[in-house]
Amino acid sequence: MKTVLIAGATGYLGRYAVHAFKHAGYRVRVLARSEQKLALPGAGLAPAISDCIDEIHIGDVTQPETLRGITNGIDVVFSSISMMGAKSKHTWHDVDYLGNLTILNEARKTDVAKFVFISVFNAAKLMHVPMVKAHEDFAADLAASGLAYTVIRPTGYFSDMGALLQMAQSGRVYLLGDGTLRINPIHGADLARVSVDAVTMGASDIDVGGPEVHAWDDIAAIACAAAGQPPKVTRIPLPLARAGVGLLRPFKRRMAQLLDFFVSSAALESVAPQAGTRRLADHYDQLLANRPLEAVAP
Ligand SMILES: NC(=O)c1ccc[n+]([C@@H]2O[C@H](COP(=O)([O-])OP(=O)(O)OC[C@H]3O[C@@H](n4cnc5c(N)ncnc54)[C@H](OP(=O)(O)O)[C@@H]3O)[C@@H](O)[C@H]2O)c1
Repeated sequence: MKTVLIAGATGYLGRYAVHAFKHAGYRVRVLARSEQKLALPGAGLAPAISDCIDEIHIGDVTQPETLRGITNGIDVVFSSISMMGAKSKHTWHDVDYLGNLTILNEARKTDVAKFVFISVFNAAKLMHVPMVKAHEDFAADLAASGLAYTVIRPTGYFSDMGALLQMAQSGRVYLLGDGTLRINPIHGADLARVSVDAVTMGASDIDVGGPEVHAWDDIAAIACAAAGQPPKVTRIPLPLARAGVGLLRPFKRRMAQLLDFFVSSAALESVAPQAGTRRLADHYDQLLANRPLEAVAP
């Protein structure tokens, strides 16, 4: 039986990855900062994972000494480690680049056969965003490492689409841009399946999104319909949003960098090769009914 290390196991995608690798017959070791989180469900209906875990390695990627030996006996590393918030004392370079590099350096000392890493769709057009640059700097080091690898670059996750449902429930959806650009967002379970398949596929780079392509206006309409609200939408022009980011930058630099990611992404079509089966309207219904477990079935 092969053993996988899941780094980022307590996050949205990592939780689905734990379930998907376990279901595919792997022994699962997780890297976690806190054992308590494993038994609890995560954001966006992501499942609890304690029942799927064989070994827990408690560690923090900003403290390399806590990762020593983490890949001993590991065949496959999957990493969706990322600092998604703006409040940490660390930078994206510290976590998304150096943290993943520490795991890679451990992997190179042992018999890891494949490293699967999650970056971001449209990364080449978003390199001015520190979070994206940190991901891609690591992807470049991974490519140069000599280890077999796959970098997966997904579009937006269903977890992030939850924000539109919340706005719809409160009566008005705010969109960045004119609402006409398109995205095919992906459910964590569908992306986890792609990640498991990537272990045995030859491709070193995979762009991927979900099965349905929507204009942002359509997503707002789907969210309003799910919430049982009339479709009230305010479209924030991108130049105005960019100006807002610029005004924020001198006072809240990290927050401005995070918002820059969303504003810059909203200026791009985010339609990647389609995968999976899960539909956004069903996800919204599940969020409203709070039914987490059905979404885990592969
Ligand atoms: N969200 C999207 O729409 C989207 C779209 C495309 C690509 N992506 C990329 O997909 C990846 C996963 O996204 P996600 O939404 O699953 O992220 P997430 O829910 O924020 O999960 C991030 C994971 O990284 C862990 N982590 C952060 N700092 C750490 C540290 N110092 N030491 C150890 N672990 C640490 C977190 O652990 P804790 O639970 O302890 O904090 C968590 O398990 C990210 O690289 C993201 O950029 C996301």
